[in-house]
Amino acid sequence: MMNKEIALEIKKLNKSFLDENNEAEDILTNFNLQVEKNEFLCILGPSGCGKTTLLRCIAGFEKCQGEILVNGQQKTEPGIDRIMVFQDFNQLFPWKTVEKNIQYPLKQQGIKDKAVLDQLTSEYLEKVNLPGIQKKYPHQLSGGMKQRVAIAKALALKPQIILMDEPFAALDAMTRNKLLAEVQNISKTEDCTFMFITHNIQEAIVLGTRVMVMASGGKVKFDEKNTIEHPVTPASEGYGKLWKRLHDALEE
Ligand SMILES: Nc1ncnc2c1ncn2[C@@H]1O[C@H](COP(=O)(O)OP(=O)(O)OP(=O)(O)O)[C@@H](O)[C@H]1O
Ligand SMILES: [Mg+2]
Repeated sequence: MMNKEIALEIKKLNKSFLDENNEAEDILTNFNLQVEKNEFLCILGPSGCGKTTLLRCIAGFEKCQGEILVNGQQKTEPGIDRIMVFQDFNQLFPWKTVEKNIQYPLKQQGIKDKAVLDQLTSEYLEKVNLPGIQKKYPHQLSGGMKQRVAIAKALALKPQIILMDEPFAALDAMTRNKLLAEVQNISKTEDCTFMFITHNIQEAIVLGTRVMVMASGGKVKFDEKNTIEHPVTPASEGYGKLWKRLHDALEE
């Protein structure tokens, strides 16, 4: 059998912050992780256990100790191979149209040809089910639409790894379910590895090809491939059992 390619490898990651008394508080201690190419890794964990900090370290936004390797190359700075999508609805420049928002980082990458920029914009807006909104401004969009544009903007850069930090947490249940289905479809066609933080067990099971539960100190309490047949619904065989085990791992 062929070995799976490793998209991301984290070796002995240590991260601490200074607390109010200027003492180092360890957030991640000797944290190790391997993520396969095209894997969709969902991470659950109690508030404050270090999930966001982990993604920020991978994105290159935090100084940390240890090694972070993308396709075998060590990363210490931000780069377009790792793009982060956040929870809040203010990830877009309010003074730029949707089109200009999506194209801004592409232009920074040296893509100057208007036809190419327009093609990428419409291709990725279609992927997130928002065709034809190129000329709208962020204030004209709903929260769900803004998150879709943020995802389109990230994907258009064709990152190796997309880091999503509770991107749907602020959405209502119906919009959230719609976006879940869309992201699941997108993940199947994009050549990209996903790391997705959520507080929602259902979200983790529906999206994840692998599900992990973190505890404080960056300890990993649960880490398994999700073998439930796609598309996953709460009625799927094995769903209830996995839900219960994840719930228990979170409770402990
Ligand atoms: N810039 C910072 N300076 C100091 N402490 C920080 C900083 N960022 C995070 N922390 C601390 O690190 C710990 C982990 O925070 P982090 O945001 O990674 O948690 P989380 O798992 O994402 O939580 P949540 O589920 O609530 O988003 C917390 O104790 C937090 O207070
Ligand atoms: Mg967080």
